[in-house]
Amino acid sequence: MFDVPLPFDAFNALSDPDAQARIAAARAQLGRRAVILCHHYQRADVFKHADLTGDSLKLSRLASQSDAEVIVFCGVHFMAEVADILSRPEQIAILPDLAAGCSMADMANLAKVERCWRELATVLNPDEQVTPVTYINSAADLKAFCGAHGGIVCTSSNAPKILEWSFARRDKVLFFPDQHLGRWSGYKMGIPMERMVIWNPDLELGGLTPQQIRAAKIILWHGYCSVHQMFNPGQIARFREKYPAGKVISHPECNFEVCAQSDAVGSTETIIRVVKESAPGTRWLVGTELNLVERLAGEVKPEGKVVQFMADTICMCSTMQRIDPQHLAWTLENLAAGNVVNRIMVPQHEARLAKIALERMLATS
Ligand code: 13P
Ligand code: SF4
Repeated sequence: MFDVPLPFDAFNALSDPDAQARIAAARAQLGRRAVILCHHYQRADVFKHADLTGDSLKLSRLASQSDAEVIVFCGVHFMAEVADILSRPEQIAILPDLAAGCSMADMANLAKVERCWRELATVLNPDEQVTPVTYINSAADLKAFCGAHGGIVCTSSNAPKILEWSFARRDKVLFFPDQHLGRWSGYKMGIPMERMVIWNPDLELGGLTPQQIRAAKIILWHGYCSVHQMFNPGQIARFREKYPAGKVISHPECNFEVCAQSDAVGSTETIIRVVKESAPGTRWLVGTELNLVERLAGEVKPEGKVVQFMADTICMCSTMQRIDPQHLAWTLENLAAGNVVNRIMVPQHEARLAKIALERMLATS
């Protein structure tokens, strides 16, 4: 056992084949003590080491059910936080590279959401009239805010159900940080577009008038995913012109026009399932992150299905991409040597409140 963690520098210089070999050796040593959870956007050279894979909802369930001493989360920061909150206190959640954040999650923070809540209180009584709903792509303190204010967490696969839960309790929803998921889910519920307004956190009263706030059903935070904003309706139109029988599927983080012009919209897990269940020979245009699309294309190719990426440029989740074989080897070798590196620990008082909002979600999904 080492007293001090093995430094990352020596691992950074590893060739890819060497990193792969060291991951395999460390895993053999760790056995069932560690479980590797991978999000679908994870790069192929890391994804191949996954014990379990999924979208955000499935991964949060898997983390809450795992018996492993250590959960190594190959995803982004908020996912490892959720694993820490939902696992038992003695379990350890690890994010192999702490720089693997989510730029959308960073678009809302507690100070700004609390200011929004205070400003809403000048127009209405938010604790009686507004359910705060945070997309799981958010920091733990925002989930705690929702737990403390009668709110809830949602993911891309359960957002409509979560909105139903919310409207059964209060008249309005404050939805953060992803405006697109909120708008699409509200639209699918039949909420008129003019009753979904944008809250710009950099403007007084979100840039809205008191009348607009009183008339709104959903107040959408001005946040978005930099990967999914690369897709546009022109790409769909060109595909349809070339392949009239082709099908289009998108993630609900895409903008409204892209979702509206797709044949199906769903979470990463849904996209994979729908494409796999489609008839042999189907051609798909897929609007989500490139690692997932390339993997899916390879998996369904033997059935004669063609899977095409929606954008003309490469758009990967650059933060998730930071979890590379070198960081995974470093993390696992340290664990095998008895050293815990990059542990994600949510402070207890925050975790308790965030867990309330997450458990409301799990019970509703
Ligand atoms: P899913 O829950 O659909 O996997 O989405 C996670 C995510 O961050 C998509 O950008
Ligand atoms: Fe965040 Fe977008 Fe990456 Fe998803 S794809 S983790 S929303 S930056």
